[in-house]
Parts: sequence; C-alpha cells; structure tokens
Amino acid sequence: MFAITAARIDKDNPLDALGVGEHPDPVPPDGWTTVTVKAAALNHHDLFSLRGVGLSADKCPMVLGCDAAGLDEDGNPVIVHAVIGDADAGGGDETRDPRRSLLSEVHDGTFAEKVAVPRRNLIPKPDELSFEEAACLPTAWLTAYRMLFDKAGLEPGAPILVQGAGGGVTSALIRLAATSGYRVYATSRSETKRAKALELGAHEALESGARLPEKVDAVFDTVGAATWKHSLRALRPGGKIVTCGATSGDAPSAELTRVFFLQLQVIGSTMGSRDQLRRLVEFCARTGVRPEIDRVLPLARAAEGFRAMDQGDLFGKVVFTA
Ligand SMILES: NC(=O)c1ccc[n+]([C@@H]2O[C@H](COP(=O)([O-])OP(=O)(O)OC[C@H]3O[C@@H](n4cnc5c(N)ncnc54)[C@H](OP(=O)(O)O)[C@@H]3O)[C@@H](O)[C@H]2O)c1
Repeated sequence: MFAITAARIDKDNPLDALGVGEHPDPVPPDGWTTVTVKAAALNHHDLFSLRGVGLSADKCPMVLGCDAAGLDEDGNPVIVHAVIGDADAGGGDETRDPRRSLLSEVHDGTFAEKVAVPRRNLIPKPDELSFEEAACLPTAWLTAYRMLFDKAGLEPGAPILVQGAGGGVTSALIRLAATSGYRVYATSRSETKRAKALELGAHEALESGARLPEKVDAVFDTVGAATWKHSLRALRPGGKIVTCGATSGDAPSAELTRVFFLQLQVIGSTMGSRDQLRRLVEFCARTGVRPEIDRVLPLARAAEGFRAMDQGDLFGKVVFTA
C-alpha cells in the first residue's frame, strides 16, 4: 500500500527523513481490525517523530500519523482513537496506562491507505461530520477538549488565555471555549493569525507576550519555553496553567516563587480517553462546531503539509486524503 513514513530519524532536517512510497499492508493481530483510511490529519507529533522524539531509529520505517477517519471492515464510517492502551491498567483511562502509546510510536500509523487498530479504538463517525473534519478530532481536538473541560474545569464566562493561536490544539481550544461561553484571549506572533483567532470567536487577540487587559483564571500553553513566563504572569492568584506541549522547548524557568506565592496550579494533560472522544464527536455534531482546516492535500503531497507546519505557516489543521 501507499504510505508516508519516517524512513529514518533526522533531528536537524526532519523533512529529509520523510519516506513516500510503498509499505507492507497491515496484518491485524487478534482483537485488532483494519480501517480503510479516507482522511488523516497532521499533528506536530509527526514532525517530532521525524526528529526522533518518541520514535527511535530501530523502529523505522514507521508509518506516521495518529489521526484517521475511514471505513471499517464492514464499510461503516468510523473515527480512530489514537491511544493504544489498556483502560483497566490506567485506572479506567487508557492514557494513564504506563505502557500506552500513540499510533505511529510502536504500531504503524494512519498516513496510509490502511491502518490496523484495536477494535475497541473505533467509534462511529456521524453523518454530520465529513471524513476530513472527523480526522481532525482524535489528537488535537481531543487534547483541547480534555484540557478545557476536564483539567481546567472552569465555569462558562471565565476569562482564559490560549497561547499561540494558529496551532491545531490552540485553534480547537479557541473554538471550543468561545462556543461554550468563555471569555477567550489568544496570542499569536502573526497579525493574520490574530485576525483568524477573532473569527473563531476569541474576545481579543494580542501579540505574543503583550499585557492582557485582565488576569485570567486559566492559561492553555502548548508552546512551552517561549510563552511560559507570560503564561504565569497572565494568571490571577490561584489560577491554573494547563500544559500539553513544549513546541519551543521544555526548560523555561519554573518560577517556583511565583507559583507558590500566588498559589498557581500547573496541570499536565495528554490526549483523552475513548469516551471523551465520543463526547467530543457528539459535541461537534450537535453544535455545528467544526475544526478549522487550513488545507486538504492528497497523501502523495504530504511533504507540503509537513513543510508548512515546520515553518509555522498554517492556521488550524492539515488533512491528507488517501
Ligand atoms: N500531550 C498531548 O497529548 C499532546 C497532544 C497534541 C499536541 N501536543 C503538543 O502540543 C504542541 C502543539 O501541537 P499542534 O499539533 O497543535 O502544533 P501546531 O499545529 O504546529 O501548532 C504550533 C503552535 O505553536 C505556536 N508556536 C510555535 N512556536 C512558537 C514560539 N516560538 N513562540 C510562540 N508560539 C509558538 C504557534 O503559534 P502562532 O504561530 O500562532 O504564534 C502555533 O500555534 C506540540 O508540542 C505537540 O507535541 C501534545
């Protein structure tokens, strides 16, 4: 089958490590099934994999891609939950299984004509969502959903800040939060992306690092080192910073004095459970909220999407069609 792989690891020039071409068809083990991929979405995770973050050279070639929507073996439209784990081993949450992985870390991922997944990882795709829209939900949107509704758990109306408006997770955070009645401040380095954040429902969009008109109850930070200091300063005493990523580096000053003196809460978040994905899908189907899709490309032109993400030249999600 045709697939996009990490042919090898290249820390400095990740795009040079991209494999485009034939790869063996998946052979599903017991309890697994094969999905015919219709659409798959790109995440920063895929770029990190090419750089060797979370993927070692001995596992290459590895089919990239965490997210997919497609058809199951009976032709039913399905969405794939990307977390391969045992919910029982994680106290009811597969993301807390110490042995859990994401598709494309241990098992081949979704940037291919077919992908093998555990049967329990399939959830039905509602007619209201296109395959392209549905493919955006399992990683970026599910992560945003858990960060906002589960980890931060604030009442609607609360002021919040989303750092770096243009990303997959952050565009989802802005859209989900604005629809749910939060007062959303967003930052971006780009004027164009700030304008788009307002279109998604942000109350105000500011330059990265700019002073906010008020302190917020929670900050959502996927950027890490470049925004951490600003995130801590944006919070009211007792506020929460919810982090799921460190795109710009993971070693900012922890500023412990500020954290304890203002009694701030630093909360880590990763992906979401299959049940949360189900609820997110229902939320989108009911409310009409849809992922912001920057571009849709045939799988054979995946390198264009990777390049745009590497250069930060996109707003929202890149989707590949198989
Ligand atoms: N823990 C999990 O389960 C989980 C799940 C999903 C994602 N993640 C992580 O979350 C991060 C975002 O993922 P994604 O797929 O949404 O990535 P993405 O679509 O490439 O988004 C990147 C965002 O980061 C901002 N950014 C990047 N470098 C920056 C810098 N130096 N200064 C300020 N802002 C910067 C950009 O904001 P502007 O261009 O608008 O300024 C952009 O919005 C990644 O690190 C990823 O690994 C973790």
